[in-house]
Amino acid sequence: MNYKEMVFSFNRIGIALGSETRMSNLFNLIVDEIIDFTNCDACSLYITDLEKQELIFEATKTISLIRKGETSVFKSFSVPLDRTSISGYSAITGETVNISDCYEISDDKEYGFDKSYDKKTGYRTKSMLSVPMKSTDGDILGVIQLINKFDENDKIIPFSEDFEQIILSLASQAAVALSNVRLLEANKNLYKALVKAFSQAIEERSPHTAGHSKRVAYISAMIANHINQKKEGVFENISFSEEKLEELKYAALLHDVGKVAVPENVLEKQNKLSDDEIEVITNRFETIKFSATHNMVNLEEIKETIDSIDDKLSFIINKNLPGFINDEDKVRVKEIGLKLFTDFDNTEHHYLTEKEVFMLTDFVKGNFSPDEWEKMKKHVSSTLDILKEVPFTDELKDIPRIAGAHHEMLDGSGYPLNLGKEDIMLQSRILAVADVFEALTAADRPYKKAVPLDRSLKIIGFMAKDGELDKELVSMFLDDKLYEIYLDDRDNDRIIV
Ligand SMILES: [Fe+2]
Ligand SMILES: [Fe+2]
Repeated sequence: MNYKEMVFSFNRIGIALGSETRMSNLFNLIVDEIIDFTNCDACSLYITDLEKQELIFEATKTISLIRKGETSVFKSFSVPLDRTSISGYSAITGETVNISDCYEISDDKEYGFDKSYDKKTGYRTKSMLSVPMKSTDGDILGVIQLINKFDENDKIIPFSEDFEQIILSLASQAAVALSNVRLLEANKNLYKALVKAFSQAIEERSPHTAGHSKRVAYISAMIANHINQKKEGVFENISFSEEKLEELKYAALLHDVGKVAVPENVLEKQNKLSDDEIEVITNRFETIKFSATHNMVNLEEIKETIDSIDDKLSFIINKNLPGFINDEDKVRVKEIGLKLFTDFDNTEHHYLTEKEVFMLTDFVKGNFSPDEWEKMKKHVSSTLDILKEVPFTDELKDIPRIAGAHHEMLDGSGYPLNLGKEDIMLQSRILAVADVFEALTAADRPYKKAVPLDRSLKIIGFMAKDGELDKELVSMFLDDKLYEIYLDDRDNDRIIV
């Protein structure tokens, strides 16, 4: 390699190292590039762990073994961080160790060569160059060890002294790249921790749906991974990168974070009227019974009257549970409500107040009054508002958009923006399927029984047919029985996000 070629390779390696963002890739890249650059047979990379006082063996490559077709699975191991090994010596002292023959290290050296690997494999380690990876502030982050330098005729020769400086500066470049990747990973871990803390906050606020976000994230990731494996059909050309999968998972974990802004009495609402309100009605019905019977003498008549009032009360309590109320029952609630009784102070009252009748008959969804339902729906725009404030990295920049569209329906009937199919990202459509399916099949809650599986499958099937959920996604979810895998994982505590 002439001077020009060397400078060129040096720069190329610098650029390659600087653009790698993943630790294990970086280690292998360093080893590959150094072997190429130096024309030696093998290279290994160790990273220092000061806390444990160890050197961790992170990557290695041996050209002669690869040529012989010997490929073994890489196994990381660690050695004590002390001066007895060549790599340990370099790591502690920061010195470059250049040995022409590892079998002839003089006794006055603090380090020695461990021949056990050679004995086991028949390999002959001869020349070796052990170089510390020094960061810009002088910390030794690891050691790069080069073994058996070749000359033009592939004969093993010692590493020349000129070479030491070049490899030392390559090792420093590698150290800078390593510091950068560590910083990036620390950044990612911080994001991860914040996302988990955020989603934990909403779970704590709403214990009845505990674990919902985590399970939705699990189903979403499962659907996206399945799309990645599709070799045919509409998803054939769609592939989510690792970063995009991560982004989807975070968006799913955060999709309901806006529920922190929903008033507690709405968020945790179990029935149409609260327990306190039902208690007031129950006490009132005691008065009604007294007022209706206190002038009666005929026991039979008293019993019949009390039974009839109790029957009305049971009906009201029953209609207080969440769920659909048919027209006939609505009429009966209103009729009961309009009945009159005389209070102890001789004033007339209706059996039910106007608000009570309204709450029992005029709700829009489950157990919510129109006003409460508006407050509940607002959690999506709150999610969007909260997430828009987070300075996500470029790789995660779509999290607000994905999470903020989890209640949008493909036919434009969703909320908050009534978006149509073309404006809803595939990731949001995945999230919507996962959200609906999880909510349907979630285990029994005090106020909501889990919907049986066959019914849940039918419901998401209808939602796809009606143009609400993505047809292709739902078909894949049903046909490829992804729901079975999910339920099995859920029921066996294998939901890890
Ligand atoms: Fe939601
Ligand atoms: Fe949700």
